[in-house]
Amino acid sequence: MSMATTMLVIKPVSPLICQSRRARLNHRTTHTPLHRVMTHPTTCLGSVAPSATKSPVDDFDPELPIEEALTPPSSWYTDPSFLDLELDRVFYRGWQAVGYTDQVKSPQDFFTGRLGNVEFVVCRDENGKIHAFHNVCRHHASLLASGSGRKSCFVCPYHGWTYALNGALLRATRIKGIRNFDVKEFGLVPLKVATWGPFVLLNFEKDVSPAHKVESDIAAKEWAGSCVDILGNSCIDPSLTYLCSREYTVECNWKVFCDNYLDGGYHVPYAHKGLASGLKLDSYSTTIHEKVSLQICEGGSAGSADDFDRLGAKALYAFIYPNFMINR
Ligand code: FES
Repeated sequence: MSMATTMLVIKPVSPLICQSRRARLNHRTTHTPLHRVMTHPTTCLGSVAPSATKSPVDDFDPELPIEEALTPPSSWYTDPSFLDLELDRVFYRGWQAVGYTDQVKSPQDFFTGRLGNVEFVVCRDENGKIHAFHNVCRHHASLLASGSGRKSCFVCPYHGWTYALNGALLRATRIKGIRNFDVKEFGLVPLKVATWGPFVLLNFEKDVSPAHKVESDIAAKEWAGSCVDILGNSCIDPSLTYLCSREYTVECNWKVFCDNYLDGGYHVPYAHKGLASGLKLDSYSTTIHEKVSLQICEGGSAGSADDFDRLGAKALYAFIYPNFMINR
């Protein structure tokens, strides 16, 4: 039996590109009777700008039963200030999965990425230790590294300052004559990094000490909550190896993609008829854990070998708050 696991990370981007996609979603949701998919009144009427005294978050009532819940107001998907709030409160707090351990398998391996407005680089030094840094030169803030691969040091493309893989500044060009310059004070700014299973996790909180070693189990518990054992047993096949990373720009607010992923297969019979024919949709189940949603569906009779590659005997979709998805 062939089996595949893919990892999806939905990156938050500017809300300005999401309007047309959101408009289509509004049209769809106004005609659907199920809970959690009804359109909020302010969405039907058009976007209502938040007042100066009231935060748009106040529109959320956590006490409301799910049967009475509405899709959040459109401002949550389009207002730039709401995205800023999400970056601060959602993405820059706690752990975020940003890559695979296979990407930094050997000494001198590195990969780069961006979460919100934060550029980062993850690398493994000559002693086998994994590091993560803000991918920003300490001189005039040029982007330091790009893409992924293998390097013995990071050389800034702007004026050539050179950093070791442990972040130390090795060489500052033409610095002779500059007073009170201590290279030890100009190393790369570290980020807190941990690994769990095949995943590399970063923590962007400012008040944490990256020098403090993070135990994998502790980071994983903070990341996936009480579901971490279920994830380990059900979602991760250690025999699989890293194949490649691909990036796609999806022209919608990041939550639209998550909403779609988490609708419990509601859209599948209409939007993915081919996939639906290979699934026993009556068996579809969703289990909500502390920070994880697990959706499971039995496979039906596969029409072709391609279908079986995609479906296997059972499809499992794990969503880890706020934006990480494992498809098996
Ligand atoms: S900005 Fe990097 S060396 Fe000047």
